Amino acid sequence: MLGKNGKIIAMDSDVSKLDKLKQKAKENDLKKRIQIIQSNNELVIPLDDESIDITLLYNVACCIHGKDNQEDLIELIRDIQRITKESSRLIINVKGKHIEKRMDNAIPEIQTYFKLEKKEIKKYFLENERVRYRFFYYLVKKE
Ligand SMILES: C[S@@+](CC[C@H](N)C(=O)[O-])C[C@H]1O[C@@H](n2cnc3c(N)ncnc32)[C@H](O)[C@@H]1O
Repeated sequence: MLGKNGKIIAMDSDVSKLDKLKQKAKENDLKKRIQIIQSNNELVIPLDDESIDITLLYNVACCIHGKDNQEDLIELIRDIQRITKESSRLIINVKGKHIEKRMDNAIPEIQTYFKLEKKEIKKYFLENERVRYRFFYYLVKKE
């Protein structure tokens, strides 16, 4: 995905998650291509307008979206739209059917900023062979 000159900017507020990422990046010889930002749980991303080709919100919407209302998630999506280049993509991945339901409820408002192109459901197995599902929402920036 990164091609020759691509770069990843990874953001989290949890230092232990970022340390794990640093270790994985080192093991895979990707250290120079990953810029790490430790945030303080704000919903404003410290990056320039229209500077990002693709945003992966993987397994994060559940935390942002853990409350009864979806205001925080929508605030974050609005800021992701600001940093995203024209016609570029946001991919949201969530785990579990209860989070899928919350995401589906939020999609009409998310579509103010990004148009939903496709939703994909992927099955995976836990070590005890129990089935779990991941849900992928592929969105493209609206002007
Ligand atoms: C379930 S974990 C997933 C971590 C990682 N994306 C993965 O898939 O392994 C959710 C992460 O979202 C981070 N997070 C939640 N709200 C955040 C915010 N407002 N700013 C930065 N990170 C946040 C948490 O610190 C946590 O590490």
